Amino acid sequence: MSFKLIMEFSNKLIIWYLKNKRILPWREDQNPYYIWLSEIMLQQTRVDQSLPYFLKYIDTFPAIQDLADADENEVLKLWQGLGYYSRARNLLFTAKYISTGLNGQFPNSYKELLKLKGIGDYTAAAISSICFNEPKAVVDGNVYRVLSRYFDIDIPINSSKGIAAFKELAQELISIDKPGDYNQAIMELGATVCKPQNPNCEDCVLNDACLALKNNKQKLLPVKKNKAKIKTIHLNYLVVVSENKKTIVEKRKGKGIWQHLYQFPLIESHQEMNQEEIISNPLFVSMFNEFEINIRLHNDVPIQHKLTHRHLLAKFWIIKVPKLEQFTTEWKKMNEFPVPILIANFLKQFKID
Ligand code: ADE
Repeated sequence: MSFKLIMEFSNKLIIWYLKNKRILPWREDQNPYYIWLSEIMLQQTRVDQSLPYFLKYIDTFPAIQDLADADENEVLKLWQGLGYYSRARNLLFTAKYISTGLNGQFPNSYKELLKLKGIGDYTAAAISSICFNEPKAVVDGNVYRVLSRYFDIDIPINSSKGIAAFKELAQELISIDKPGDYNQAIMELGATVCKPQNPNCEDCVLNDACLALKNNKQKLLPVKKNKAKIKTIHLNYLVVVSENKKTIVEKRKGKGIWQHLYQFPLIESHQEMNQEEIISNPLFVSMFNEFEINIRLHNDVPIQHKLTHRHLLAKFWIIKVPKLEQFTTEWKKMNEFPVPILIANFLKQFKID
């Protein structure tokens, strides 16, 4: 691409951004701790949904040292609802590492940032460009959308060829003088103007040369290859309620997005289960064979929860038992545990009598 075209593209974007950017707390200065936190959250959700989480985090942990000193449960609790909880665990791990292993010095180059747990190419590029003026291009969903439309590129963005091609193009276009503004500008345009549905092409600063607009292909770009089929998993939570107002919670072990979150004992299955099947399940038998129990289903219609690769359908089985002493939690303490949002929503509307 000619130098002139590159300059035109990035200059237009930056001028537009400086005039139109949303006022956000992490944009007030170039504090790497704030940028790191915000960029990790923004990989998860949109700006408007991330904002309250960001404010809660910096209120509770104003500096990286405060995060480093935090307890994992507290970090997860504040993350509750954002999903992908490994991101929160990695934040804590890396804050501890920077605090003790690096004497509190936040690494200030792309290369050093990339060595940190939870920081991949995207986050290292975002932090190093925004905070340290290093010309490393970010490529996120917004960037794929803007570039594929502007240049009318139909290589699938989830193919290795597409990933490499867009990375190279983004790196070619980045402003050497203002890499941080450039990266934020292209993401901001993708988030607020060049939106997935109903892009606002009339007001777009790039509309005079956008090929998708010219060819009326905005709806067709970017192209994504068909993904693996989404599996449905049935979750049967055993909500034990004792006469002395106790219940049973456990910490999730093993890998997976809910690792280290808490939950009621759980029976997972590929098919929907009825009460008879629950009662004869080995977990249920091992837990309750010595008790006189009373079981009922709390929700006749399973609660849906959609993840990227799975659809979850949850049933909450309320199991009343006499006194519980061992391995138990007082019901009123339930709200203190970091739990999947599915369980948090259940707790909001379920009252024990
Ligand atoms: N999405 C992810 N990071 C962003 C940023 N820095 N600005 C706008 N949108 C974003």
